[in-house]
Amino acid sequence: MAKFIIQGRKPLKGKITVSGSKNAALKIFPVSLLTQEPIRLFNVPEIEDVFRAQEMLISLGGEVKKIKKGVYEIKFNGKKSLDMPASLVNKFRASIMFVGPILAIYGKVRFPHPGGCVIGAGARPIDLFLNGFQKMGAKVKIFRHECGQDYYYLTVKRLRGANIFFPKISVTATESLMMTAVFAEGETILKNCAMEPEIVSLAEYLNSCGAKIKGAGTSTISVKGIKKLKGGEYKIIPDRIEAGTFAMLAAASNSGEVLIKNCQPNHLEALWTLFDKIGVNYSLTKDSVLIKPAKKLLACDVTTHEYPGFATDLQSPYTVLMTQAHGSSLIHETIYDRRLLFTDMLTQMGANIIMADPHRVVVNGPTKLYGRQLVSPDLRAGMALIIAALIASGRTEIDNIYQIDRGYERLDERLRLLGADIKRVE
Ligand code: EPU
Repeated sequence: MAKFIIQGRKPLKGKITVSGSKNAALKIFPVSLLTQEPIRLFNVPEIEDVFRAQEMLISLGGEVKKIKKGVYEIKFNGKKSLDMPASLVNKFRASIMFVGPILAIYGKVRFPHPGGCVIGAGARPIDLFLNGFQKMGAKVKIFRHECGQDYYYLTVKRLRGANIFFPKISVTATESLMMTAVFAEGETILKNCAMEPEIVSLAEYLNSCGAKIKGAGTSTISVKGIKKLKGGEYKIIPDRIEAGTFAMLAAASNSGEVLIKNCQPNHLEALWTLFDKIGVNYSLTKDSVLIKPAKKLLACDVTTHEYPGFATDLQSPYTVLMTQAHGSSLIHETIYDRRLLFTDMLTQMGANIIMADPHRVVVNGPTKLYGRQLVSPDLRAGMALIIAALIASGRTEIDNIYQIDRGYERLDERLRLLGADIKRVE
């Protein structure tokens, strides 16, 4: 299994470029099922989860052509396949995004429960999706496949517009129901929607192809059903989580000037507000962030929240940053109940962290960190361990880096450009 070997405490300085957003890119592959015309994609991150989405599209009868780095053309040729292959569905949670489009074009879809990061107790639920599809007229059957896994079988004669209230705010459920409603008869109103920039970007793209979506980026979205969607061009927005993570890496290392390029700082206002409180020395332009060494970092509590609040995907690097800040900080993870378990590994590295319950830890800082032998439990925690290793004394080995490659493109190469001593060992 591939691993990273990191020799810590090398000064980090220079420039690092942010990739296209994983969580925006993953949704365009299912959208391509809704049109027979090609879609040209720009700024596509070349990461494992995106490769899985490409494989899923191909397995369903689509084509993926690489034009050059980051530029792809995708096309769906209408081959009938209502089965989503378990080998892919088990690998990434965003596979759930294909369900709505398959249902919309064939009236049937069969799939096992989706996999992905293990960051909640048990399998991450899909009830919001199923309830939404049911409201739009679909019948849902759950059965035990001969392989022992639970499968879902959804059928519908004609999807119809519906009034859907999400009892919980969910990014992918909002996006899924929004894209499925494009082909439903009549109007769909979605309430208590997530408001993430990736949703706005997806809605803008769909509208440019003929969809009639209003309100994306607010808590109520309306979609008027149409009959045909065009293809087009889709430029994937910069990855706000990657930008924020690099900013926290630079702040935690506190060793030189780091310029984070090709990002949209206006998507990270919650982070900049925290930086003001804890004393990070930073400046922003429209598309870059500059982090300079700070005199002293102060501890500050944080509570994760749906956008525009502080993203759960930024919680783990922030927790590492707090190990370098003066004072106590309470980290309250409200979205997922397994996302703080990685702090156990930070403790092994020398951090002073007390777990109050699965949703809350207290970090007492600053503490020196020391290199250790670690295993990446999931994508964001894995990235946080890399930050910890880069600021720790000595050598750290991080195993199971497939989890990190799922979301960060050529991370080791890009970090070496900043001066990091990080090696990939296959
Ligand atoms: N939830 C339900 N039922 C559902 C769906 C979600 O109860 O049917 C709950 C979840 O258990 C969780 C909450 O709703 O407690 C929010 O989950 P959400 O559905 O928003 O998560 P997601 O849409 O599956 C997306 C991102 C995540 C990111 C979250 C929160 C994608 C592909 N994934 O996940 O990204 O953490 O929104 O912002 O867009 C990551 O990139 O590492 C990652 C996990």
